[in-house]
Amino acid sequence: MANSASGLQSLPPLQRVLVVGSGGREHSLGWALSRCPGIEQVWVSPGNGGIPERTEGQTQTFSKLPLSEGDRDGLLQHCRSASVDLVVVGPEAPLAAGLADHLRAAGLAVFGPGADGAQLEASKAWAKQLMDEAGIPTAGHWAISSANEGLALLEQLQRPLVVKADGLAAGKGVTVATSVTDTASAIREAFGGRFGSAGDRVVLEECLQGPEVSIFALSDGERMVILPPAQDHKRLLEGDAGPNTGGMGAYAPAPLLDAEGLETVRRQILEPTLQALRDREIDYRGVIYAGLMLTANGPQVIEFNCRFGDPECQTLMPLMGPQLAQVLQACAIGRLDLAPALTIRSDCSVCVVVAAAGYPDAPRKGDPITSQLEAGASHQLFHAGTRLNEQGILVSSGGRVLTMSAQGSDFDQAFAAAYEALAKVTFEGMQYRRDIGHQVRRA
Ligand code: AMP
Ligand code: GLY
Repeated sequence: MANSASGLQSLPPLQRVLVVGSGGREHSLGWALSRCPGIEQVWVSPGNGGIPERTEGQTQTFSKLPLSEGDRDGLLQHCRSASVDLVVVGPEAPLAAGLADHLRAAGLAVFGPGADGAQLEASKAWAKQLMDEAGIPTAGHWAISSANEGLALLEQLQRPLVVKADGLAAGKGVTVATSVTDTASAIREAFGGRFGSAGDRVVLEECLQGPEVSIFALSDGERMVILPPAQDHKRLLEGDAGPNTGGMGAYAPAPLLDAEGLETVRRQILEPTLQALRDREIDYRGVIYAGLMLTANGPQVIEFNCRFGDPECQTLMPLMGPQLAQVLQACAIGRLDLAPALTIRSDCSVCVVVAAAGYPDAPRKGDPITSQLEAGASHQLFHAGTRLNEQGILVSSGGRVLTMSAQGSDFDQAFAAAYEALAKVTFEGMQYRRDIGHQVRRA
């Protein structure tokens, strides 16, 4: 398996896949994988209220398992007893905690980096050092370990800075300050325990300007396949106002980067990153997610993540060709050279996230969700924070509740399809942005 892949002439059989996670990202990954030819069964664990339970005696290709992301031994046991051929780990926390290492050590093919590679996301200071050493364009920065150190630096620089908790803070560890006073407050706050141990160290950065774009490279440790650029919408409210969120909607391919621009990103950012990982003897098998800002001086890295973006994944999965499962498997065993070329539909794909009342600060849970939606070829409803309650009623159970994805021959058509479908889904207090994709819509 993973450890004896070097002499292989073709990919091993691939029928059963386990996706670890419970969000819209994992729902869309499981959905896309279950549509690949030859795939008999996809489990998503722990999944969500939109993924069916497996019923005894029935053959279902797509179902959930009740094992949490942290239940390494339970997941391993399932992989063994159900002869799982490929594990795809969705979120960053289990990757940073070494889930991929644990499963790989037992001989499984795992798509997702080990804890060493996951530092790309789990430690901003580590990632920054790697970028500096590899000459990867990124904002100027300073790693500081006390508020006083940061305040002294600020005193010298006398300009607003971006303040980032070093560790994983679920996308909430960043303040883009607009004044020196705000920067000082953010530094004090970051060391004040707000981010737990993620805030023991803080990175200060120069503030960059330009549109943001998310790039995903599927890597086998040596080679990579780059997916179409996607653009997320981080702010809660229309007009890109309000607090930062995990992401409120996305579209792809984002015209911000054409083929030439993408080639520059490959050459200046992705290839050097993979090389720098290899130089550290890190065999990175999974997604390198580069969050870029397209500045007047070219693309610069804002952050790296070690997984697919959520909700970007929900726009990209519907575009993936039938080779997706084999491509992820080939990455997992370090043999992308054995995979068929991944075809990507040329459609425009979009998604709109529906969040609960009170999101992002205090999302309300337990609101019943009703839907008059009929299955359609041009839209997909991916669940995230949903569950079936004791009465079997679908209710909200988290901040980001649903993602509606849709495709069309242009962005106007795709967004019209997404919003039309979304009008058929309701729950009390639901909130979503009507202006997702304002950058590319004419209507
Ligand atoms: P991160 O969690 O690192 O992705 O940061 C969250 C958001 O903060 C990014 O999506 C950007 O909008 C913003 N941001 C982060 N770093 C910078 C920077 N150096 N300059 C300007 N904006 C930034
Ligand atoms: N959509 C942003 C993220 O997944 O981090």
